[in-house]
Amino acid sequence: MSSSRPRYMLLLLCTHVQKTIASPGRGILAMDESNATCGKRLDSIGLENTEANRQAFRTLLVSVPGLGNHISGAILFEETLYQSTVDGKKIVDILVEQGIVPGIKVDKGLVPLTGSNDESWCQGLDGLASREAAYYQQGARFAKWRTVVSIPNGPSELAVKEAAWGLARYAAISQDNGLVPIVEPEILLDGEHGIERTFEVAQKVWAETFYQMAQNNVMFEGILLKPSMVTPGAECKDRATPEQVADYTLKLLSRRVPPAVPGIMFLSGGQSEVEATLNLNAMNQGPNPWHVSFSYARALQNTCLKTWGGRPENVKAAQEALLLRAKANSLAQLGKYTSDGEAAEAKEGMFVKNYSY
Ligand code: 13P
Repeated sequence: MSSSRPRYMLLLLCTHVQKTIASPGRGILAMDESNATCGKRLDSIGLENTEANRQAFRTLLVSVPGLGNHISGAILFEETLYQSTVDGKKIVDILVEQGIVPGIKVDKGLVPLTGSNDESWCQGLDGLASREAAYYQQGARFAKWRTVVSIPNGPSELAVKEAAWGLARYAAISQDNGLVPIVEPEILLDGEHGIERTFEVAQKVWAETFYQMAQNNVMFEGILLKPSMVTPGAECKDRATPEQVADYTLKLLSRRVPPAVPGIMFLSGGQSEVEATLNLNAMNQGPNPWHVSFSYARALQNTCLKTWGGRPENVKAAQEALLLRAKANSLAQLGKYTSDGEAAEAKEGMFVKNYSY
């Protein structure tokens, strides 16, 4: 056993964090866009990608009054973990005051996977243990590693193995450093394929991921999953209803995910805000062995960002927009959401080809 800490201690640490994150009616706010991705978001509202503008938007997000009633964890980019709000308070401290657990994106992004069919692999294992020890000191209690699998490009066996291996090594190292790992092999929405094909690929990806995690002695009680929902490709003409998405996704999870895993926190992947909420709601119409919730970035932040537009006088309205989405997803976690009264804007898809973080 490679772990330098006793396993029971790790389990205790993880259990406490997970109980908070996977608590009823709550989910994760993903706000861990890298500076480059954050720049694209800021550009969409005509703002320059400066540290001050990133800080202003992140301050707006974390200081929404009452956010902690619906949000249990926030994933941060490294810059934000060490960043203060515009009033000079540490962002991590604001989150803790709100009852929100701070988390950290630890992967170093995607690069081309040589020898594959134009696919990618995720960097970040070198020096991970020491980086994570520092992140823990800084207040992070969970971690995230996002790798991707592309359906139109294969996926090749090599790409799936590499994705699973990277996730498994990362999960083991994170647990050893007291951070709960969020395991995220994103199956990209890109493509014309139908829902059956996504289901088939997702089964392969999760089988390999759990196999590699077992090989690496990852404690399944001490992880959280961040899967893509099983949907048709973004360019497929046959669209699926929330009930169909829920059926396929829950079938996938029940075939592949042991009940020891405490929480499933879905990514939104380019779905519209309303679509992501409706799909989550459909999955919570009956009891599940795991907490089934959300860890959205775009599907929580989109209207909020547009409403803000970089103007101080819009901060309050933008915060209300975020709270509205957080509440809607909170209801969806409890299976009690209806889309009545949702704005047309919240129904617009946000799919972008080859989206990166
Ligand atoms: P989206 O919800 O925008 O797909 O973000 C997912 C993600 O991985 C952010 O941490």
